[in-house]
Amino acid sequence: MAAIVKTTDVDALLRRVALFRDVPGEMRRELGHRLREVPFRAQTDIFHAGDAGATMYIIVEGAVKIFVPAIDGREVVLAVHRAGDLFGEMALLDDEPRSASASTMEDTLVFTLNRDDFVDVLDVYPAALRAIINVLVERLRATNQSIQDAYLLDVPGRLARRLLLIATEHGHDTERGRDIGLRVSQQELANMIGASRVAVNKQLQAWRQRGIVEVTRQRVVILQPANLEREFTLSP
Ligand code: CMP
Repeated sequence: MAAIVKTTDVDALLRRVALFRDVPGEMRRELGHRLREVPFRAQTDIFHAGDAGATMYIIVEGAVKIFVPAIDGREVVLAVHRAGDLFGEMALLDDEPRSASASTMEDTLVFTLNRDDFVDVLDVYPAALRAIINVLVERLRATNQSIQDAYLLDVPGRLARRLLLIATEHGHDTERGRDIGLRVSQQELANMIGASRVAVNKQLQAWRQRGIVEVTRQRVVILQPANLEREFTLSP
């Protein structure tokens, strides 16, 4: 994995992160010196729910799954964060243990920032404080949508909406259709929507046979987005 080492690259990355975008360039460069670069292999735990937290993470490249482990070994996946996203800020803000676990879905490179430096930025720059509030509000909106989906939609509806959401956030267009852009197992998809792996597999196969999606190992391409949308659009 390519490691980012040049100061100019660090500054370019920090400008992509909402928290740092509007702080003066001088402060960003100063922060750049305080960041530590840490690579993780795919499928590695970064921290566990309940751990004490003293660090915030900024993703340079890769993908990180945020999840709550259930007692029976299942997982509830709350979010997947990618390059430019930050996570691990909550324990620094409220001094409580980690609210969820984090593990890598791909080889991932992160920058870490310690609590004192994080608090310094928020204390000195109102723009950074507003940016953190925006991050939290965005997450609350996404969580509200998931709760609504859990109450109102069946498995096909939840799966269709999730695939389209992932494709919007992470995907790219190909000649065949839109690749959702995230290598995700059927178990992980199931954990994102509160369904069983078997139910997800059955639904994907049904859509595949109708030509709505293409499914290969850990890769989904959406061929007919309108047909997926129909699964969660309530008809009159
Ligand atoms: P922290 O509680 O320190 O550790 C777990 C992290 O997961 C948390 O900070 C947030 O960065 C992130 N997180 C927790 N809940 C959500 C959520 N609902 N959506 C996205 N990210 C979350």
